[in-house]
Amino acid sequence: MNSPNSEFWNKKKVLITGHTGFKGSWLKVWLEDLGADLLGLSFNESKNNFNRPYASNNIMNIDSDLNSNSWQKTVTDFRPEIVFHLAAQSLVLEGYKNPIETFKTNVGGTINLLSLISELDSVKTSLIVTTDKVYLDRDNHAYKREDSLIGGTDPYSASKSAVELIVSSLLKAKNSPLSTVRSGNVIGGGDWSYNRLIPEIVNHWHKSETLELRSPNGVRPWLHVLEPIRGYLLFAEYLHRGGLVIPAMNFAPSFSNHVPVNQIAQKAFSYLPSRSGFKIMNSSDYSFVETEVLKLDSDLANKTINWRQLWNWEMTLEKTLDWYTNYLQGADPLELIKSDLSSYLHDLAHEKTS
Ligand SMILES: NC(=O)c1ccc[n+]([C@@H]2O[C@H](COP(=O)([O-])OP(=O)(O)OC[C@H]3O[C@@H](n4cnc5c(N)ncnc54)[C@H](O)[C@@H]3O)[C@@H](O)[C@H]2O)c1
Repeated sequence: MNSPNSEFWNKKKVLITGHTGFKGSWLKVWLEDLGADLLGLSFNESKNNFNRPYASNNIMNIDSDLNSNSWQKTVTDFRPEIVFHLAAQSLVLEGYKNPIETFKTNVGGTINLLSLISELDSVKTSLIVTTDKVYLDRDNHAYKREDSLIGGTDPYSASKSAVELIVSSLLKAKNSPLSTVRSGNVIGGGDWSYNRLIPEIVNHWHKSETLELRSPNGVRPWLHVLEPIRGYLLFAEYLHRGGLVIPAMNFAPSFSNHVPVNQIAQKAFSYLPSRSGFKIMNSSDYSFVETEVLKLDSDLANKTINWRQLWNWEMTLEKTLDWYTNYLQGADPLELIKSDLSSYLHDLAHEKTS
């Protein structure tokens, strides 16, 4: 399996949007480790009041709304060569509550970014992060490939589906150097989003409360956050070196690592130190609709950039829960990310495959 090449990334000028978010924080740390020259565009203080003090240390930082016009000059002057666009309203349930805001950020904000970077001759490669939830008819148990039909139905998924259509039409119209990347349920330390499974488990465990599972039988493509990040880095490197243009790429676990929510929850329950009052049960009242089965095929990533999942779902979950328990005991979050990255790189070098 391939690892991102530090000779390639060293001193590359890279713009990351969403660098103060969950995935953006890990991408930022890995790119710093590779020696890239970074500019980040995000809200510094998340609207949801997440606590990510480690997210913006050694990076030139723009604290701005994607939809505003205040950041264009800084980005233009920076002259990015590679762009990773992660900034988004990233939650399905928030999309149901605030659909218009979700479209404004995810569609309007993306168009605002694309309209600038399409004018910048410095930009040679851009990866636009969408989601596995862009696929139509997700519940039919078939593995979704990159050429499966697009058509997310809830507001979040619809907004990301719109981005897919925008990017593929820009590729046709202007031959723009753009591709989308799609992955599923990404877990790892430092995700504080409400209504995502791992933060919910950790919060309920920490407060010794009962957690009700929304969608216990839902099967999801769980991946440690370092897995899609490695995929983004390898794919960007491949495109930047002149590889065949590929409009979209999935990053997903192997078939046996697509497991139901309740299997993750039960394993977490037995792995975390016991606490009286902490219980996990199935919810009887759930009014939002979420896809029951979501399976993703990443054969294309395997064949093109030699990307496969490194850590199986159990290892992924243990690493994730260790991150949170160490953090809650006072460990420095940035050091925890660096430590997970170093053990991931070690395992990658030794190909301890799942
Ligand atoms: N975490 C997952 O499991 C997962 C799965 C599939 C796809 N994704 C996608 O990956 C990307 C990153 O996800 P995440 O989990 O890190 O999200 P997150 O919610 O943790 O972070 C979102 C980031 O976007 C920034 N942002 C939000 N609205 C903005 C705006 N209007 N202007 C500027 N910045 C804004 C925030 O400041 C933050 O840095 C998103 O595009 C998301 O849709 C995430």
